[in-house]
Parts: sequence; C-alpha cells; structure tokens
Amino acid sequence: MSRVDFSRVLIAPSILAADFAHLADECGSVERGGADWLHMDVMDGHFVDNISFGPAVCDAVKKVTRLPLDVHLMISHPDHYLERFVPCAFNITIHLESSANDIAATLRRIRAAGRLAGLSIRPATGVEALEPYLDQIDLVLVMTVEPGFGGQAFMPEMVAKIRRLAELRAERGLAFHIEVDGGIHAPQARECIEAGANVIVAGTSVFGQGDRAAAIQALRGAAACRIS
Ligand code: DX5
Ligand code: ZN
Repeated sequence: MSRVDFSRVLIAPSILAADFAHLADECGSVERGGADWLHMDVMDGHFVDNISFGPAVCDAVKKVTRLPLDVHLMISHPDHYLERFVPCAFNITIHLESSANDIAATLRRIRAAGRLAGLSIRPATGVEALEPYLDQIDLVLVMTVEPGFGGQAFMPEMVAKIRRLAELRAERGLAFHIEVDGGIHAPQARECIEAGANVIVAGTSVFGQGDRAAAIQALRGAAACRIS
C-alpha cells in the first residue's frame, strides 16, 4: 500500500512571501483560507544566492499551525543538516544538485526518520537525472524558476518535465507527489495540474493578495480541469 495519494490537488503557500514580522498571523490566514501544506524555503546563501531562515523559524511556525510543513532545503549540505528539520517537518525535500555525499542514503535517512522524502531539480537539470531515485522518494519537486527568490516569472518549458514524470510514475507503477514551485498563479497552476502536478507551491500569488482564501481558491479552482 502506497504512502502517497497523489490524486488530490494540494495548495502549499510559501511563507517566503509572507510578512516575517507577523508570521503567526500570516500562517493563520492561509490555514483559515484552506491551504493544505505550508511550504518552508530554507536557503543557505551557498546553494542559492539568498539566505532565508533555518530550523528555529520552522520550529516556531510548527507551534502556531496545524498545517503540515513542506520543507524545501535549498542548501549545499542537506545530509549534514536534515536531522535538525525532522521535528518540524512533514516532508523534507533535498536538491539533486546539492553536495550531499550520497543522495540515496540521505533520502533513506529522511524516510527512516518517519518523514516523506522529496527530491528537487533546478531548471537546468533533466528528468533523466532523477530516474534512478524515483522508487526511493515520496515527492518530486520540479522548480519552475531558478531557486533563490520569490516573485520570478514561471518557466513554461518546465511543464514537459511534469508530463514525463507522470508518465514514468505510471509506467513503473510508482506513487509520488509531483510538486511545482516558482512563479505560479492560477493559469500556471492549471497548466501544471493538466500536465500531472498535484502539489502547487505559491508565494506571491497567495501572500501578495489581501484575501488569502480567494487566492487559494483561485489556485485550487484550476484543479477543476483535472481528469482523474
Ligand atoms: C524559490 C522558492 C519558492 C518561492 C516561490 O526559490 O523555492 O518556493 O517562494 O515564490 P513565488 O510563488 O513568488 O514564485
Ligand atoms: Zn520552494
């Protein structure tokens, strides 16, 4: 029996676009607004050219929300730091391009800690690089912008990766979420869901709107196009 149900569309607002001075209120607003997960963008200033926050902020957020925390590690050494995120995380996603000594072993450690294991690729990395790991993960995160900053423009050429991953998943009888992240507003959400994505990360398009429930609904509404 698979641990992952990828038939339902999940909306994961990214707190990177929230008002950090009022984080508890910001998290509450998206929780009440119908979010499914909270996306936590951890950046080390080395893997990406930005520094965001680390485990202390993730632990603080966990205390003020019932939403599962979807931890996206944009850091060079996820194998060194991952245990620090285990207490707060629902799933932990590492980058294939990171300098982890052993990607497969790091994914095994995430699962052994009782968390879902995710693997992400930057725009320049092809799906074929993920193929050896597909039976060892619970989630694939397809970056639809270059990781590091919110508010960038969606890269439509990434949609083919979603389609290919959905094909590989079906061909191999596997079960993993396909998550997309970067520049996603309702039209892009629709395009990604049509291609086979089921987890939609959204920073600006949720926290940039006053009415969080309406923003989340607009993204979720794009799911109406989903056939299965
Ligand atoms: C980018 C991050 C994203 C970012 C998305 O490196 O991984 O999660 O917060 O922000 P928007 O939705 O504004 O592109
Ligand atoms: Zn992210």
